[in-house]
Amino acid sequence: MLFSKPVNRLNSVLAVLFLIKSTLAAPCNIYSSGGTPCVAAHSTTRALYDAYTGALYQVSRGSDGATTDISPLSAGGVANAAAQDTFCASTTCLITIIYDQSGNGNHLTQAPPGGEASGPEANGYDYLASAIGAPVTLNGEKAYGVFISPKTGYRNDAFTGIATGDEPEGLYAVLDGTHYNTVCCFDYGNAEVSNNDTGNGHMEAIYFGADTRSGSGGGTGPWIMADLENGLFSGYAAGNNDADVTMSSRFVTATLKGETDQWAMRGGDATSGSLTTLYSGIRPAGGYNPMSKEGAIILGIGGDNSDGAQGTFYEGVMTSGYPSDATENSVQANIVAAGYATTSLVSGPGLTVGSSISLRATTACCTTKYITHSGSTVELQVVNSSSTTALKQQASWTVRTGLGNSGCYSFESVDTPGSYIRHSNSQLFLNANDGTKLFSEDTTFCPMAGLNGQGNSIRSWSYPSRFWRHYNGILYIAANGGPDTFDSTTLYNDDVSFVISAGFA
Ligand SMILES: *[C@@H]1O[C@H](CO)[C@@H](O)[C@H](O)[C@H]1NC(C)=O
Ligand SMILES: *[C@@H]1O[C@H](CO)[C@@H](O)[C@H](O)[C@H]1NC(C)=O
Repeated sequence: MLFSKPVNRLNSVLAVLFLIKSTLAAPCNIYSSGGTPCVAAHSTTRALYDAYTGALYQVSRGSDGATTDISPLSAGGVANAAAQDTFCASTTCLITIIYDQSGNGNHLTQAPPGGEASGPEANGYDYLASAIGAPVTLNGEKAYGVFISPKTGYRNDAFTGIATGDEPEGLYAVLDGTHYNTVCCFDYGNAEVSNNDTGNGHMEAIYFGADTRSGSGGGTGPWIMADLENGLFSGYAAGNNDADVTMSSRFVTATLKGETDQWAMRGGDATSGSLTTLYSGIRPAGGYNPMSKEGAIILGIGGDNSDGAQGTFYEGVMTSGYPSDATENSVQANIVAAGYATTSLVSGPGLTVGSSISLRATTACCTTKYITHSGSTVELQVVNSSSTTALKQQASWTVRTGLGNSGCYSFESVDTPGSYIRHSNSQLFLNANDGTKLFSEDTTFCPMAGLNGQGNSIRSWSYPSRFWRHYNGILYIAANGGPDTFDSTTLYNDDVSFVISAGFA
């Protein structure tokens, strides 16, 4: 019946064409059509404009400090991850710049010290993210997100075109719903230009995590909340808003928008379905109406550089003007169509869950030495077939599915069942499982092909720029050229490469 009337047929065709166009248009083309253009657009995984062919991000490699830009494979396409893999082969890489695709030059770079926290780097800056911490595929093509460990952050205090004062704006971000903590603040959005807390209403940023000190949502978290400065808001006021439901899908879309005495946030699964409105209504009392937005851009930190949080960022934008729900719905449809999926976190010689292994050092000094424990200290010792049974057991580890991420591994002591190798303050220890989220993350490690061409190098899941390294006989998680003495670049590739064999015991 539908096609018996020509006018209905035409309407159907137009509707289908509109659906195809709006699904295929890139996020910033959709915002532009809606009258609220992107004024900043950041992604390490893909172009956010149909025609964008420029650089998405820059990486710097540990071997010689050289940098290269990573661009989309085609106009509007997915990042050329293979170019990164080639450039970073046999060394480490950090993400040094996340370029703004909008043309406004609102690039994100290493965050400077702020009112709340100085970063751990020598100049007080925060850490840069590893370039390999968040591998994904988009419709089958490999790309890398930005894996933010605690004390990692990016910022731009010299912006162009971002909303200030009470001007309207919109934001969205695609995040990892399983990577978060309870510490302030894994944010993306509008913040202070001084890196300092300048008062209520001076920020408008998407927060993701389970920090409950000012607001909380329904269930146990994590939640999308609005960091409006001096408060993470789940709804109208500080406190609980059950409508701000827990967002625990692997990929999460989060939106936030604000205009005079009105703000709204929405969220959903970035791989299917639509967005749920989590809050839409008036501003909180006490300095939020009018807003005093400052226009700087943060990623992974709070406005005052509070840098204790963790999370993963894949893509996000900031707009000029208050986007309609319909515009955001089209953006969500585009994100779903982008086809985010997980991919392997490990490479190199494979490990078998349940097997016992021993790990031999490959640095010239130490090729008869294995990773052992003495009490809670994890260290190198000479071990061989003539060693005592006790020492053989101390040098043997049962491979377990990663306690904090099933795509990686944990290593349980053969002679002390229930105790695992974990990192704490960047040193490895043997500790009993206390059942906490932090312990499970601290004990999760992702092996890859050895950086010196031998065996495996084993990176921390939660600090992917850091690999197991022996230094003066003690085991650390070390960053190539990081701020600690055990981060020394001398012999780094050798010190982080271990040949894995069947366990001595
Ligand atoms: C940050 O704020 C504190 C107190 O609000 C103030 O004492 C300090 O001078 C500020 N620092 C900067 C760099 O503005
Ligand atoms: C075998 O290991 C023991 C320590 O367990 C060490 O004393 C001995 O020198 C080693 N033997 C060889 C041949 O390396």
